[in-house]
Amino acid sequence: MYGDDARDDGGANCCGIDPKLELDSNGKISLAPDMDRRIETLWSLIRALEARDPYTMKHSENVTCYAVGIARAMGLSEENVDIIRQAGMVHDIGKIGVPDPILQKAGLLTPLEQRAIRTHVLTGVQILCEIQALKCELPLVRSHHERWDGKGYPEGIAGDAIPLGARILAVVDTLDAITSDRVYRKARSLQKALEIIADESGKQFDPVVVSALNQWISEISTERQVQTDALTTENLLETTVEALAIRVESS
Ligand SMILES: [Fe+2]
Repeated sequence: MYGDDARDDGGANCCGIDPKLELDSNGKISLAPDMDRRIETLWSLIRALEARDPYTMKHSENVTCYAVGIARAMGLSEENVDIIRQAGMVHDIGKIGVPDPILQKAGLLTPLEQRAIRTHVLTGVQILCEIQALKCELPLVRSHHERWDGKGYPEGIAGDAIPLGARILAVVDTLDAITSDRVYRKARSLQKALEIIADESGKQFDPVVVSALNQWISEISTERQVQTDALTTENLLETTVEALAIRVESS
């Protein structure tokens, strides 16, 4: 298995709650004061996880950037992009509850260890459900390991029953996993990752999200006047690095 809300964006956000976005004098979206506090809370949670597992730090950042790129390629509203961005930041926060010997194990996991790793989804929900401001992100965190074909976890839901944002996170979670070094294997190319993801379209992944990933990559290829097969993950990350800008400002 390789590493997922409303298909109809319709201008509404992921759960119908005002995300507290405001327009500045230039007509651009700015963060309301309570949103600033929300972001600070998010980064505090992420830093707590980084302290235990430095790999997850980079993973969360990469997943966030990729997810924002796909969400925009799908034409989602900035309100929904923002929810997906923040869910990307904290999607693996529940790994705080996974013991070090399992979280940092170099070899293959035993079935028991796999079950322990899988608890990170519901542990994450337990941590985040205490934060009222993250109500919209919660379903995405809960479902980021569900599969389009219903063979995922924690609930085994399928297709459109999986929040769209979670279906996006599932694709980019895998994209980053394949293209990043692991203690047990070296990183593979962006092109190899795209092949694997294409093979899983309609099985592990929502075909619409896979298509949006390819559309986003094609747009970057055109903008940069670089062949698609010459693009790297760094090229993708550069286009959405602003998704992480709030981190620089708040650090
Ligand atoms: Fe995860």
